[in-house]
Amino acid sequence: MTIAIYPGSFDPITNGHVSLIQSGLHAFEKIVVAVLSNPKKTPLFTVNERIEMIRESIDDASGGPEERVEVDSFEGLLVDYCRQKGAKIVLRGLRAVADFEYELQMANMNRHLEPGIETMFIMANDAYFYVSSNLVKEAATLGGEVSRLVPPSVGPKLYAKLGR
Ligand code: PNS
Repeated sequence: MTIAIYPGSFDPITNGHVSLIQSGLHAFEKIVVAVLSNPKKTPLFTVNERIEMIRESIDDASGGPEERVEVDSFEGLLVDYCRQKGAKIVLRGLRAVADFEYELQMANMNRHLEPGIETMFIMANDAYFYVSSNLVKEAATLGGEVSRLVPPSVGPKLYAKLGR
């Protein structure tokens, strides 16, 4: 079975992430969405909240339980987590040119750490080319309307978290 690990912060999941997972399911038999649990960062949502929102968003988008997507969290090195899951592919999305350098560095660092693991990229859907969790949070914090950029179940949780 071809398993791809789709790692990220997902704080929170956006429509861009959902679209990427749906595209990835055309190429891979199973996708493990892996939420980074990073004790050094202070995310808006806890790891459990993020996992719950991802699960709900994927199932909503698939019209029922999506058995081919597992949602999990990891700590430490991504390559160690891949080994633990028996996965040789890391899946990442590419948006604007600005993503390229960061992604190239990460892919090469991961290849250095574990040559048996390849990073594969899917170009972001043009509808969500400009959407990132950070920009969504920033806009929402400043009073912007971002409900159409995140899955239906995420918008109310985002505004509730921000006290709006
Ligand atoms: O959504 P993000 O924040 O761009 O995702 C970044 C992520 C989680 C993929 C990256 O920070 C990561 O893999 N962290 C785990 C630590 C690690 O393996 N570092 C070495 C390779 S760069």
